[in-house]
Amino acid sequence: MLISTDVGSGPVVVLLHAFPLDRRMWLPQIEALADMYRVIAPDLPGFGDSPLLTNASIDAFADQVAEHLDDKDIDEPVTLGGLSMGGYVALAFARKYPERLAGLVLADTKAEADDATARANRDKMMATATSVGAGAIMEAMLPKLLGTTTQQERPEVVAAVRKLGSAQRAETIVAALKALRDRPDATPYLKDIAVPTLVLVGQEDTITPLANAEKLKRGITQARLASIPEAGHLANAENPTVFNDLLMTFLTGVG
Ligand code: MLT
Repeated sequence: MLISTDVGSGPVVVLLHAFPLDRRMWLPQIEALADMYRVIAPDLPGFGDSPLLTNASIDAFADQVAEHLDDKDIDEPVTLGGLSMGGYVALAFARKYPERLAGLVLADTKAEADDATARANRDKMMATATSVGAGAIMEAMLPKLLGTTTQQERPEVVAAVRKLGSAQRAETIVAALKALRDRPDATPYLKDIAVPTLVLVGQEDTITPLANAEKLKRGITQARLASIPEAGHLANAENPTVFNDLLMTFLTGVG
């Protein structure tokens, strides 16, 4: 069972948040879209107000999103957007529930699985989360989550992201890190995605940089790619004006 923000009316747009944040990271998009769309932004299992899931995995997160739509009696195809971890979940959803998709937005994310170095780093982070807590994970990630421009010029964004990440439970962080570490490679399935897809990437994103976005664009037949200036990995929060313009234009095309 997931807890979500569910506002507005019109075609359904579902937004899936990044690690280690929660649905509140989508506030700038929720505000911009709710006049024309029904926007549903769930907390993925264990984050924010949603209960933790035993045996968390990216596929299980996608199943939870599908169940959440069932709970809300939404059976028409939706536009699903995900940023980073949310994008991994969106790709799993696209593989498992293709008939439920009208469009896909993949922001600051990638199809590839973790390599050996990334997996070892997840293990270290799990140990830190267990021994020190979520705040330590946030501090370690913050310099990478946000672009240089945001770090230098937007202290309010830095503070808001820090607050969101530090508020998560350590057990959630551990479960999600395991899910991230063990997620499968989505590359073989990109060719099966048959809906309009918008790939977005912050120009200062160092976690999932342009090369990852280009790979998504090349793999998905109906994909368009746009990059967002003065934004790092959390492009939706760092440059909401450009992010929202691109999103709105895309959604108008999806219909
Ligand atoms: C995220 O922003 O969701 C994470 O950086 C994803 C990851 O660590 O792979």
